[in-house]
Amino acid sequence: MKHYTLTIQEIRKETKDAITLCFKQPGLQKIKYQAGQYITLIVKINGRKYARPYSFSSAPSVDATLEITVKRMPDGIVSNFINNELKVGDVVEVLEPMGDFTSNRINPINHVYLWGVGSGITPLFSLIKEILHSQSNTVIHLIYGNKNQDSAIFSKQLSHLKKDYPTAFFLTNFYSQVDFIEQSNTIQKGRISTSFIIQLLAQHKNVKESVHYICGPKDLKEIIKSTLMELTVPSSSIFSEEFELVIDPIELEGVEDSKVSVLFQGRHSEIFVPKGKSVLDVALDNDIDMPYSCQTGNCNTCMAKLKDGQLKMLGLTKKRDDLAYDEFLLCCSYPLTKAISIEVI
Ligand SMILES: Cc1cc2nc3c(=O)[nH]c(=O)nc-3n(C[C@H](O)[C@H](O)[C@H](O)COP(=O)(O)OP(=O)(O)OC[C@H]3O[C@@H](n4cnc5c(N)ncnc54)[C@H](O)[C@@H]3O)c2cc1C
Ligand code: FES
Repeated sequence: MKHYTLTIQEIRKETKDAITLCFKQPGLQKIKYQAGQYITLIVKINGRKYARPYSFSSAPSVDATLEITVKRMPDGIVSNFINNELKVGDVVEVLEPMGDFTSNRINPINHVYLWGVGSGITPLFSLIKEILHSQSNTVIHLIYGNKNQDSAIFSKQLSHLKKDYPTAFFLTNFYSQVDFIEQSNTIQKGRISTSFIIQLLAQHKNVKESVHYICGPKDLKEIIKSTLMELTVPSSSIFSEEFELVIDPIELEGVEDSKVSVLFQGRHSEIFVPKGKSVLDVALDNDIDMPYSCQTGNCNTCMAKLKDGQLKMLGLTKKRDDLAYDEFLLCCSYPLTKAISIEVI
């Protein structure tokens, strides 16, 4: 996997708790990416390395710099480090762009609906800019949920796009924490709901031909996906991006505290993985510097072979028929036996 070092050229404050980092493209070997993809930042905090993926908020055909937008998570290690510590001129290590939340999966698109909440706007913003710039026949509808207007990332930029593309870009904002709001076609109080989705799509004759991109919490994704499928939108036209792995505690049934023997780059280590923690989490806590990126079971960077014992993968959002019987993604792997042995590939 390719590593790059990027210099921060500019930092923009987007909201009270989100900033955009703009990186200079490397002089010799420019980084190629697609709108909707992400890069993984690798930072050292108190002597430990952390890797976190961040979607591009820039669009390759529109923006000269590579941009990501990071929202603080309460008690989040890396997002607070980025917001508090990084400054213009700093150099950051990144992994090559990854991800398939991209617009060229369906081409040409006539009507595209983008559904986002909070920081889930970042890959959608990249897609909006790219599509408006390069696909003149596409009509885009963004449905964007936030607590209030002040917490809505890119709210000014989106208003400008609405003015610049009055027939190609439509925006509905949902605000969940406002006392009073004059509701209209473009501003709604509350959360994105099934009835709203049905009402919005009823305006379009060819619902079956619409394409949908969803980026937000798991419950939102499920509501939107199931409503769209009821409206006969094929699942092949619905794409979603996960920012976090959500595990239902019921799924931990059968998972055991386990002694895990890890073979990585020719070295053996023994770690204790308590019930509820993924093998990757504990390996990193034990300073085993193994490769990883998305931490949501999508990129395969953390793959290992199971040599002995049993593991179960939890929280996966896509079927993984491509993995062999003994291949496991450690970011979402939990031991089912008191002892297991793995080899990191
Ligand atoms: C493909 C992809 C794209 C992404 N794009 C973006 C983006 O564009 N913008 C963006 O802001 N984020 C994005 N993310 C999320 C980002 O990668 C990080 O997950 C996020 O910034 C939080 O990282 P952190 O280190 O600050 O939080 P962490 O320290 O990892 O903690 C995350 C949360 O979990 C809680 N937590 C941590 N440890 C524990 C524990 N042991 N027990 C219980 N709770 C715990 C913390 O309180 C915190 O709220 C993306 C994620 C993915 C997978
Ligand atoms: S880190 Fe991406 S699949 Fe595990």
